[in-house]
Amino acid sequence: MLDLTVQSQEAADRLGDGILELAKYRETARPGWTREVFSEAYRESRQWVSGRMAAAGLEVQVDSAGNIVGRLAGTDPKAPALVTGSHTDTVDGGGRFDGVVGVLGALEAVQLLRESGQRLSRDLLVVDFLGEESNAFGLSCLGSRAIAGELTPADFDRQDYRGASLGQAYRDFGLDPAAVLQTRWARTAPLHAFIELHIEQGPTLEQRQLPLGIVTAITGIERLVATFTGSPDHAGTRPMNDRKDAMVAAAEAVLSVRREGCGAPNHGVATTTRIESESRSPNVVPSLVRMTSEVRSVDTAWLSGVRGRLAEEILANARNLGVDVEFDWTTDNTVVHAHPRIHDVAAAAADAIGIPWMPIPSGATHDAVHMAALAPMGMIFVPSRAGKSHCPEEWTDFADIATGVGALAQTLTLLDRTEPSPADLT
Ligand code: GLV
Ligand code: MN
Ligand code: MN
Repeated sequence: MLDLTVQSQEAADRLGDGILELAKYRETARPGWTREVFSEAYRESRQWVSGRMAAAGLEVQVDSAGNIVGRLAGTDPKAPALVTGSHTDTVDGGGRFDGVVGVLGALEAVQLLRESGQRLSRDLLVVDFLGEESNAFGLSCLGSRAIAGELTPADFDRQDYRGASLGQAYRDFGLDPAAVLQTRWARTAPLHAFIELHIEQGPTLEQRQLPLGIVTAITGIERLVATFTGSPDHAGTRPMNDRKDAMVAAAEAVLSVRREGCGAPNHGVATTTRIESESRSPNVVPSLVRMTSEVRSVDTAWLSGVRGRLAEEILANARNLGVDVEFDWTTDNTVVHAHPRIHDVAAAAADAIGIPWMPIPSGATHDAVHMAALAPMGMIFVPSRAGKSHCPEEWTDFADIATGVGALAQTLTLLDRTEPSPADLT
């Protein structure tokens, strides 16, 4: 068993220094600690991450999907590898901890294993996955999707708001889309398990005063782009009762989306993040408006009905206003459950080193969703101060991260010894 009392202060200090150092790589023209995928700040930060992995004694490679992979060799080269890691890109105006804790925490877990004299029999791969956050092309988890074989050629044709393609963004970043599509890890070697350390990003652990959450399931996400088409008219002369105002129909739809989230019976959230109007002149009734929204839940039954319920309500309200609506829905990811065996091993690890924990669902999505296609998957959460995330105030005390690292290291130790069950292999 790991002795956490000796190392934890040192580990917390080292982690804190690393997190604050990585945060210096930021897009200074943007708010908070912005380091979006494909940005110059991200490109430079990846050199720093590679160096940090090498300093932790890992053999570092960048795979053809752009994931930075550090390998700690085990004693049995034939045994399927353990994988851990997360991401170091941020949302626009984001914080310093989302994803970063899972990458630098994994390196600290390597250090902890070394200091406690433990050598894993399996290879341990620490991954900094390319571009986890949903980006201007509307696609999250680029690196983990690629290695799970879940990226398609059509994804590279996606365009951002300026009309640039995702494929071009990859090329500009030095990555070849054709090679990315070939990077399916399952083709090369089977994996034993994937476990990701992450901040909770919500308020539950802090409210319950618990240091650790062990994830039960990761939310499904349905994304909507709705296009409202009305009629352009003079804003000064067209009577109020004779308008086809696309903006008003979109405004009604924003409220429908909100009502949908508020009405979820178990767990559900619904957010409109963007409204774009083609009307530039302040004196024209808006005739073309696009609305970007998302709905999330770990309740598959409820989430599967969301498209139908929202279409019915939004259409009815728009028709009353004489406005047409087109719906373009995509499933970002379905609900993914943590593998019960990985959940139980993480729970046993926390118990073994005396860390109280609770089972917890994740309302945020993660690379773990896609890694679940390659290996039995689990996640460990540490508390977020005031539950804040995707904002500059995001914070987790370094001592709390060190506690999570202890749980991660102990989980890796136990997983290393766990034989796959027949159910894992089907
Ligand atoms: C990623 O952080 C997401 O939940 O969108
Ligand atoms: Mn994240
Ligand atoms: Mn995030």
